Amino acid sequence: MSENKCPFNNLREPDGPLGLPIVNSFPFVGWNTLKFLKSIREKYGDIAQYKLLGFTNYLVSHPDDIAQVFKEERTGVYSKKRFSETFYPFFGNGLFNSYGEDWELQRKQLQPFFKKSKVTDWFSLVVEESLSHIQAIDGQINELNAEDLMQPLMQSIMSSILFGVGLENEESKKAISAIDSVSEQLASHGLKSFIFNGLLNKLPTPGNLKYKKALKTIDTSIRKLSSSQTDDKQGGLLPLFAEFMTAKELRDQLFTLYFAGQDTTVSTILWVLYYLAKHPNYQERARKEVLGCWPSLEKITHEDLDDFVFLNAAIDEAMRLAPAAYVISRDVEKDTQLGQYKLKEKALLILSMYVTHRHPDLWDNPSEYRPERFIERKNKGYSFYPYGGGKRLCLGMHLARMEITTIIALFVVTFEFKLKPGVNIDPITHMTLKSKNGIPLTVKRLKFTKKAFD
Ligand code: HEM
Repeated sequence: MSENKCPFNNLREPDGPLGLPIVNSFPFVGWNTLKFLKSIREKYGDIAQYKLLGFTNYLVSHPDDIAQVFKEERTGVYSKKRFSETFYPFFGNGLFNSYGEDWELQRKQLQPFFKKSKVTDWFSLVVEESLSHIQAIDGQINELNAEDLMQPLMQSIMSSILFGVGLENEESKKAISAIDSVSEQLASHGLKSFIFNGLLNKLPTPGNLKYKKALKTIDTSIRKLSSSQTDDKQGGLLPLFAEFMTAKELRDQLFTLYFAGQDTTVSTILWVLYYLAKHPNYQERARKEVLGCWPSLEKITHEDLDDFVFLNAAIDEAMRLAPAAYVISRDVEKDTQLGQYKLKEKALLILSMYVTHRHPDLWDNPSEYRPERFIERKNKGYSFYPYGGGKRLCLGMHLARMEITTIIALFVVTFEFKLKPGVNIDPITHMTLKSKNGIPLTVKRLKFTKKAFD
């Protein structure tokens, strides 16, 4: 790697592969991002460097260095500016994307709606929606792709939380399906924006036209939904936000919250089901624990969620091995020092939860699924950070946790489930970490839960 002007001249830049001429490591990242990042850490250490089409990237994997990055983000050493510019067409100036004073104000405005004590207001909605989706599954069915159940379930929940109306409302349905269609293209659109100054995204290809049309549908539907709901009779965040947001702000925040909250939560639920299906002993332990508190429908209360010690550990362990948000990035705003290295202004800093969560210095037998490690967890800090950290820590983490614990608890007492034999579960890196073939399960409805739910 070449030497560059830097105030920390006594330090050197992190090591890393040179990659191919011109494109550098781009094909390897595109081919298998997780494998590439993991191998970079293994070969070059906890702060490593690689280049993509001439741009410098630093992969930072040690919890202490991650803590320093989050700390120094508060003083402007790191930022999310380039991410924000790239994804402006999607998120606009919503909380996920904004920075500076806009972000400060938005965070202050939105935080109260997502406090732990506040999200329990949505508990009965989550229970009702979950039961109606889970019970709608034919009692005779013995095969189920978990995604086909969980995706519509979360769409319904998010539609009610955001718009105050479920998917039976035409405008809500249109908005949700357009947001999903935009989300599908987000990763490739983001990647293409680094090539030829984003020209590929501007060509009138069928994909680009479909994407533009979907963005327009989102705008129109959110506008219609907000003008039809000037009071809070229907509940949901939209009428509450409409009191202090312009139409454009509403669109950006609702899109952001749906996008940030839906796919991440679905992916997490699917991975938890995968690991519980693979480990019947853990599945049975989780089921017994839930039935101990919730022997029948009448006994379901949100106060029990934190008492599901094993179930919560099983969820954490799935989030460790398969973090829905597997990577986040920051811009290096000025030449700086991290650990024993100098980092150069304008480089991109990559924090990968996937890599750190499988770091062998931090976790014994890192690829083994063993929920018990979270019951007596010793290595705190950023060795486990599925919701990010620092000032931009996930806004919706308490909502996500309430949804995930509730939905998994109801699922394990309704079904005994196994992985469908012969299907490979290969992780793929869309905007969230997914499984290529979904999570196909064979399920058996449990007699005692049928009695409880009938
Ligand atoms: C399991 C589910 C979820 C995971 C794994 C997750 C993960 C994350 C991560 C890693 C970040 C930090 C991004 C960064 O630093 O660049 C983040 C931010 C964010 N998340 Fe989540 N999230 C989840 C659910 C939700 C939900 C349910 C909502 C709301 C409905 C939500 C809303 C947000 C928002 C608005 C931000 C941006 C916060 C800011 O920049 O101030 N998330 N999330």
